[in-house]
Amino acid sequence: MRIGILGSGLMGGKLGTIWARAGHEVVFSYARSEQKLKKLARDAKGKARSGTPREAAQDADALLLAVHWSRVEDVLKQAGDLSGKVIVTCSLPMNADDTGLVIAHTSSGAEALAKRVPKARVVSAFGTVPSEVLFGVFEARRKARRPSLVYCGDDAGGKKTAAQLIRDVGFDPVDAGPLRIARYTEPFTLLIAQLAYAGDEGPELAYRFERFGKTH
Ligand SMILES: NC(=O)c1ccc[n+]([C@@H]2O[C@H](COP(=O)([O-])OP(=O)(O)OC[C@H]3O[C@@H](n4cnc5c(N)ncnc54)[C@H](OP(=O)(O)O)[C@@H]3O)[C@@H](O)[C@H]2O)c1
Repeated sequence: MRIGILGSGLMGGKLGTIWARAGHEVVFSYARSEQKLKKLARDAKGKARSGTPREAAQDADALLLAVHWSRVEDVLKQAGDLSGKVIVTCSLPMNADDTGLVIAHTSSGAEALAKRVPKARVVSAFGTVPSEVLFGVFEARRKARRPSLVYCGDDAGGKKTAAQLIRDVGFDPVDAGPLRIARYTEPFTLLIAQLAYAGDEGPELAYRFERFGKTH
């Protein structure tokens, strides 16, 4: 796949690197320094390069939106027309000092994004895990028991693409349903963040759902 990274920080930098190592063509975009984007592309090896958000979006099979909520409007403007594009968003609608959600309960950041770009195919994924766990999950991808990763969206094709990208990182994708379920997954991340950052066991935390029904 050709993947455009919109926001090459903790999440975008790591996920883009992993996808490049998994064989995808990756364009890193949107950081405050072009040098950083170039270095990310160099270090990722594989078919990775740096570019502008517009270049990242061009011909992309999937885009990862990984910016602070306050930067979403700016990066979308720079990316240009995203009609028909699959946008996988891990961006949480956090306030300026990252202490709380500014959209919750009756809507979600993912739904607000879908309203902003109605012709794009928005999938919410990756926002429920800390960036610190991503390389560890990728390294463990050949082990039998993979951690779960919930995702949701309203577009079947977009969800199929997202599920593949989730598998490529080393997670077991868990389809949580339509995009409005992001109302539950986004606050769930605050629990994950509490477990990851408040204790003294380190932030390399993932989760796994287990079923105990007769068919399992
Ligand atoms: N970090 C996590 O563990 C985690 C987990 C789950 C969800 N999330 C969500 O994922 C999203 C991204 O988080 P993150 O931790 O990856 O954020 P981050 O490390 O701050 O990355 C954001 C990216 O946006 C770039 N940027 C910021 N302001 C810019 C500007 N004015 N012009 C150009 N580029 C600019 C940053 O540039 P620089 O590289 O130059 O700083 C960086 O590359 C957020 O919405 C967050 O809530 C994060």
